Amino acid sequence: AQKACHGPVQGQNLADLAQSAANCQGCPLWKHATGTVFGEGPPDARIMIVGEQPGDKEDIAGRVFVGPAGNLLDQALRDAGLVRSEIYLTNAVKHFKWTPKDTPRGKIRLHQTPGNNEISACRPWVLAELNRISPDILILLGSTAAKSLLGRKLPILENRGLIDASHLAPKVILTVHPSYLLRSSRKIDDAAYQSFVTDLSMASDASR
Ligand code: URA
Repeated sequence: AQKACHGPVQGQNLADLAQSAANCQGCPLWKHATGTVFGEGPPDARIMIVGEQPGDKEDIAGRVFVGPAGNLLDQALRDAGLVRSEIYLTNAVKHFKWTPKDTPRGKIRLHQTPGNNEISACRPWVLAELNRISPDILILLGSTAAKSLLGRKLPILENRGLIDASHLAPKVILTVHPSYLLRSSRKIDDAAYQSFVTDLSMASDASR
């Protein structure tokens, strides 16, 4: 059996990092998740996007942003003139945090927001990804990504858009998480969606 791992090692490239992260036991979340969901995208990507954590679908597929939030993100990226396959996509937390819930149609795994301890335990992985990608533009989706990389809680709606965090990347954009748009009402609020696209477009403007 492979030895458990608690964090990245200096000098590892992205593929090495992903391999070590697969054995990460830096916080207890690995116990109930299917596996680590590491970031993906071209190593020379100019844009890096950080989400919260894998959801149910991502946990099963082992890939970032392939569920409902991912589909909405894909659409918004297209509407913002961005190409997903050119972007490095990852999460602040690499394991799905969930709690079982009984529903009339069976058991579901209910998403739980990662806590500060889990965000801190996973931060070295995100920082290692940021270090290897060294993007021109970093996009933070929602408050978990903001907490992870800015080290503090920053209200998203009041601070969205370009923010001052040049120690992370030349341009840092803070915006809402796509799940926020899915949650805000049963049908997606058009104005909220457009604001999300506008925030993402700052990356397409800035990358030209
Ligand atoms: N939400 C996230 O933040 N990341 C994913 O990969 C999926 C849903």
